[in-house]
Amino acid sequence: MFPCALNGAARFWMKHCTSPRAFSTPRSRFVLGIETSCDETGAAVLDETGVIRGESLHSQKKTHLDTGGIIPTVAQRLHRENISRVVQEALDRSGIEPSELTAVATTVKPGLALSLGVGLDFSLKFVRLHEKPFIPIHHMEAHALTVKMLHPVDFPFLVLLVSGGHSLLALAKGIDEFLLLGQTLDVAAGDTLDKIARRLSLRNHPECSTLSGGQAIELLAKEGDRLAFHFKAPMGQLYDCNFSFAGLRNQVTMAINKKEREEGVEKGHLLSCVKDIAAASQHTVASHIAKRTHRAILFCKSKGLLPQHNPTLVVSGGVASNEYIRQTLKIVTDATGLHLLCPPTKFCTDNGVMIAWNGIERLKQRKGIMSYTEEVNYEPKAPLGLDITSEVKDATIKLPPLKLRINS
Ligand code: KG4
Ligand code: ZN
Repeated sequence: MFPCALNGAARFWMKHCTSPRAFSTPRSRFVLGIETSCDETGAAVLDETGVIRGESLHSQKKTHLDTGGIIPTVAQRLHRENISRVVQEALDRSGIEPSELTAVATTVKPGLALSLGVGLDFSLKFVRLHEKPFIPIHHMEAHALTVKMLHPVDFPFLVLLVSGGHSLLALAKGIDEFLLLGQTLDVAAGDTLDKIARRLSLRNHPECSTLSGGQAIELLAKEGDRLAFHFKAPMGQLYDCNFSFAGLRNQVTMAINKKEREEGVEKGHLLSCVKDIAAASQHTVASHIAKRTHRAILFCKSKGLLPQHNPTLVVSGGVASNEYIRQTLKIVTDATGLHLLCPPTKFCTDNGVMIAWNGIERLKQRKGIMSYTEEVNYEPKAPLGLDITSEVKDATIKLPPLKLRINS
């Protein structure tokens, strides 16, 4: 099976910890992490060894599923309604008082402006009230480094982040040092799966009514024939590591329109071939992600950017919980001699834990720690690291043949 990254402390906590007081080590430092960049209100208190002392998460996913996508003002309202409770719950569960915290770390970039604003306002009031240092966090850096909370991974390592809002490949060289190798030129992988699922009306499928689009596609694809439809893999002639999913969505929409006409099915009703369309879409998304990742690995190897010993690919983001996509990536890492690390789903999606952990890492290295008196702004758009995507493109790396066939 897949290497689920979990170190001893995290595993022990998840299995046995019923009382947060059981861990009171008086001299440990504690960070409260707060996440509101998109549609999850998350908070967690971590100690510096990565043990989660208390956490809480409020997901808005159900509301956004009902409205067919995230409406920023609705997300903002829900964050406002839940943030105090979520933070208080995380603190209560940790048994740690605000006065005992070493610092507060909060996502300030990138994300939805209205959502980021709620977390930042709350945090600044909190740190001023309790006179605590403030650590602003880059959401994508936090995703990329969560794995280090669970498993010892040395820099540099390669990171693939695939979620509802992002699809990117980067080399992590340090806690605040990244090389951006590729990113999506249009929409993200998860957003594409969500839109395909919506167009297929999968919410009306009895097994999928509460699932996200990506989860619904994965479930139905298990019983579908991916060869029943052929969708062209995106960007086959471009030898870079960027992603593009808009063209795939168009192809799938056209196939659905055609089938609806043939079967006389009206919009909102389920086609007989939904499982096949799900399987073919998932396969095309998986192969596109795998091919770009394959090229990123070859680029890094050709430039000596990965260590000789135990070079690692870390995969994170909501889409990374897709078993078919993980298996496809495993074919690539096996062929290239990389170690594949996928944090458990709980840590792949947005949460307060990853923000608190990034705060701990920054605290340890004394990087980016601010006084509670300083002004901080949020930034809806914020690139991850140094953009070397054009250098990757100029290398025009052609991929050796590799069969990305999964027996599902
Ligand atoms: O990381 P995440 O929770 O939120 C952000 O986008 O930041 O990712 C959510 C995305 C959604 O687009 C959802 O459809 C997708 O991850 N997703 C999946 C699976 N589970 C969630 N995509 C494919 N397969 C899954 N099993
Ligand atoms: Zn995220």
